[in-house]
Amino acid sequence: MTKLAIMGAMEEEIEPLLSHFENVNIVEYANNKFYEVNYNGLDIVIAYSKIGKVFASLTASTMIEKFSCDTLLFSGVAGGINPELKIGDLIIADKLCQHDLDITAFGHPNGYVPGGKVFVETNENLRNIAKKVANENNISVIEGTIATGDQFVHSVERKEFIQNTFNADALEMEGASVAVVCDALNIPFFILRAISDTADMDAGFDFDEFLKSSAKNSADYIVKIVDQLNK
Ligand code: ADE
Repeated sequence: MTKLAIMGAMEEEIEPLLSHFENVNIVEYANNKFYEVNYNGLDIVIAYSKIGKVFASLTASTMIEKFSCDTLLFSGVAGGINPELKIGDLIIADKLCQHDLDITAFGHPNGYVPGGKVFVETNENLRNIAKKVANENNISVIEGTIATGDQFVHSVERKEFIQNTFNADALEMEGASVAVVCDALNIPFFILRAISDTADMDAGFDFDEFLKSSAKNSADYIVKIVDQLNK
């Protein structure tokens, strides 16, 4: 690894990261800000993409192609589906899918278009490093499937569709698009989320209430993973 990308979707998701690092250099590009730091000798670029799959794809591609990042970590919040996931809990994605990608009219499965695949797997080595860090620090984390779509899910019907169709454990709005970009460009990547809500009718309220604290749970763990990667 020569340069690490750390991404979030919202400012609140990267703010706890930025406050951890010193001497941040800001580069403006593609209607966004990229925060460059050197952390104990490791070059890191941090950015938040804005919400949704399109902005997340743009930012991931930019960090790889323009800033030459060769490993990518994503930190942020998600809606919980797996009932074992409570607000604040952490989930590492082992694979991701796009729950709103739908050409089922032509006989294809949900989440599939020709040339693509329903599930994109994250890098196993990064997952193993993260699990080692969790063990050593008594951090409890589950590994599972994350479903991504351009919708803030706040209904039991939609949540159940995503659960039943993809067997997903959590849902959010960026992970799978970052996965598609990194997979295509051969960049090892890792997607971490902390639960902010459970994607039901209270989701909007819970999200506003727990965005900051859950984003910090995710960011604090990411920093520990970075420390391990940099050993
Ligand atoms: N991120 C956090 N909570 C979410 C939800 N309910 N739907 C989509 N993305 C989310």
